Amino acid sequence: MGDAKLTLNGQDFQLPTFEGSEGEVAIDVGSLRGQTKAITFDPGYGNTGSCKSAITFINGEKGILQHRGYAIDDLAHHASFPAVSYLVIHGELPTEAQLKEFEGGIAEHSKLPQAISDLITTFPKDAHPMSVLSSMTAALASVYSNYDDDTAEETNVLRMLGHVRKIATEFYRHTQDRTPVTLDPKISYCGNFLNGMFAEADGSYTISEKRERALNMLMIVHADHEQNCSTSTVRMVGSSQACMFASMSAGISALWGPLHGGANQAVLEMLEAINDDGGDYKKYMEMAKDKDSGFRLMGFGHRVYKNFDPRATILKEACDDVLAELGVTDPLLDIAKNLEKIALEDDYFVKRNLYPNVDFYSGIIYRAMGIPVNMFTVLFAIGRMPGWLAHWLEMREEGSKIHRPRQIYTGQTHREFPK
Ligand code: SDX
Repeated sequence: MGDAKLTLNGQDFQLPTFEGSEGEVAIDVGSLRGQTKAITFDPGYGNTGSCKSAITFINGEKGILQHRGYAIDDLAHHASFPAVSYLVIHGELPTEAQLKEFEGGIAEHSKLPQAISDLITTFPKDAHPMSVLSSMTAALASVYSNYDDDTAEETNVLRMLGHVRKIATEFYRHTQDRTPVTLDPKISYCGNFLNGMFAEADGSYTISEKRERALNMLMIVHADHEQNCSTSTVRMVGSSQACMFASMSAGISALWGPLHGGANQAVLEMLEAINDDGGDYKKYMEMAKDKDSGFRLMGFGHRVYKNFDPRATILKEACDDVLAELGVTDPLLDIAKNLEKIALEDDYFVKRNLYPNVDFYSGIIYRAMGIPVNMFTVLFAIGRMPGWLAHWLEMREEGSKIHRPRQIYTGQTHREFPK
């Protein structure tokens, strides 16, 4: 792959290029400003690669999503969430022994320090769980003296995978005036989430194998997604050598936005609003096409997928099965399917490549499982934690420089301070 040639003000410049393992081509502009005094300009970074990574590959045109070379469809249907977490973080699918040790480590490090459990009970019961999750994740650095010790990285990874689930379930139980549930190392990661959320005050609860299997698939399809907004945030914060807990807390905050992970909650609220408004989904489709309406069809569109989000395909299929298995019929699912059907044929959506994304169907399954709507994005964060950790570790291992983009100044030029 030869150099790229740039002509600026009549002068030619050469910029090196390189190719990734899946044939993606990059123009390395690291020397651009030094050669030309000019910088690139790419608001939203839609055309800018911030790093090299070996964790996840996405081909948006073909709807391909792979983690360490394995297709998301295979992982979602044949692996467990802990095994996919191990793969994303360590680069290989775990052996039985490695998985047992990994799951044991997560279980061992799930119990929250008492100070954190106590803090969780001080939050108002109507606090948004994402506020609690991001705050308590950063607070972990205040209770672990080795929060910033490179030799404790493996332990802190296990702590983070265990604590993200525990903070979520302990806060939910706080809102229900129930005490936390002790983790049972004999049941799965997803089983412990369900048990941690819904066990009765006396600890009794029967984990539905169907719910556990649906949650396992939902966690897997959220495990990683290369340089999305929240993962890029984790890398940005981690590049200053801020600790793992601070970086994960920043990722949780970025994910909360309704244009990103907050979309799964926004999708359900949109479907409920349409249902409450008589179910006239065609009216809302027209509103989505009217810029002045301020209404967007949540769960549609994606910066990278310009045909279909393979995760949405997996979840759409799972939706029917899960609702049938759980014996749940949901009018919102009918509205969702009608919205999708129209969008796939409507010129406005087709022309802008607006197809259902991972958030479009996930909320319907969460709702069928009895998860409260304000916990949907928390579940996205639990699923994405392995991906955030993997990218943080990869960036640390490569010794990344601090991230510091440039800008083009458009404000006042110099002026004298008034006498
Ligand atoms: C996630 O990056 C990732 O990988 C994210 C994620 C992950 O796993 O980490 O996949 C998870 O965040 C999925 C996306 C969840 N968000 C939503 O569902 C919110 C609704 N979607 C949009 O807000 C939007 O599609 C984005 C944010 C997802 C993408 O935005 P872009 O790439 O910046 O696109 P854009 O806003 O520039 O829109 C391009 C055009 C515009 O119209 P024109 O100005 O060209 O006329 O499409 C229109 C937009 O108005 N448009 C929509 C729309 N999304 C885009 N119009 C109506 N409804 C929508 N949902």
